[in-house]
Amino acid sequence: MRKIEEIGNVEKRYEVLDLVGDGGQGDLYLGRDRRSGERVALKLQKARNLGPESIFREAGEDLLGEGSRMLMLTGIQAIPEIIATGTHQGRRCLVMEFVEGRQLQNVLLAKRPVKHPGAVASVIGQLCEILREVHDRNLVHCDLKSENVIVQPDGRLRLIDMGHAITEGEPTQFERGTRGWASPEQSDACLSGLTRQADIFGLGCILMEMTVMRLPYGGLEERASPGGPVLPADRLAALPPEFASLALWMVRWEAKERPADVREVFDRLRRHLPRPGSRRPPRPLCPDPTEYYRTYPPRL
Ligand SMILES: Nc1ncnc2c1ncn2[C@@H]1O[C@H](COP(=O)(O)OP(=O)(O)O)[C@@H](O)[C@H]1O
Ligand SMILES: [Mg+2]
Repeated sequence: MRKIEEIGNVEKRYEVLDLVGDGGQGDLYLGRDRRSGERVALKLQKARNLGPESIFREAGEDLLGEGSRMLMLTGIQAIPEIIATGTHQGRRCLVMEFVEGRQLQNVLLAKRPVKHPGAVASVIGQLCEILREVHDRNLVHCDLKSENVIVQPDGRLRLIDMGHAITEGEPTQFERGTRGWASPEQSDACLSGLTRQADIFGLGCILMEMTVMRLPYGGLEERASPGGPVLPADRLAALPPEFASLALWMVRWEAKERPADVREVFDRLRRHLPRPGSRRPPRPLCPDPTEYYRTYPPRL
């Protein structure tokens, strides 16, 4: 298997430019290859604060683990390519393909709730296509949320942030993912291992974020707690009823009761996907994810 090139001091090869993203685990800088001028994304582990050295070192190792999971996904067009690993000012760094576009979270902010079935289906459908490839390689992303999705200017979606990804079925020791979007089985150790149904839960949360603007089971601050998820009926009135039943199926408390595979989700959405050559929907998102299916036929 290909290994990731370790380049040592990142600044020798790349100019470190603006801070362009800030997540829970890393700081994302725009970088430029000093020879070719190519733009890259530099994901740096967070600067060491007052905490112990061992925690800082572990965070660096976690970032390298993220790099090797990205390597396992090489060739999936929607996942940014990993180029190298290195160090910048004592912090571990991943060098990867720079993805142009806007975070789905920000794209949605201006236009929620999304009422056009073709627009909803285009976002969830593209994510199903991407997740099918990830799951076929036996990985579970474990941190699906609109913040970790970038919409390119041409309407194509890219999935980023392999920081929580794990091999399907591998036992976990701790909570994993982001509260609110993480499935119940991610909220603690999971000795039987996480499955693709964890990602289907996260995808169901994105569907709910877009349409009813609410997360199931108590939202962001609380750990998920049992009891059926409820959808606010007034906000659903504008959408065909299959969207509500699909969302509720995807976020079922028990993993086994959710769709078995993203293909099952995709099949429910298929008839709402815009046809190649069809017209732009009213009040499109910007960039507009329907452009993808208005250009290419579905791949599932
Ligand atoms: N390859 C990339 N190209 C462009 N922007 C990116 C890329 N990867 C991440 N980002 C931006 O940086 C932010 C943080 O990156 P992410 O990998 O999600 O870090 P964290 O693990 O800290 O959440 C993202 O939300 C996104 O805005
Ligand atoms: Mg992130």
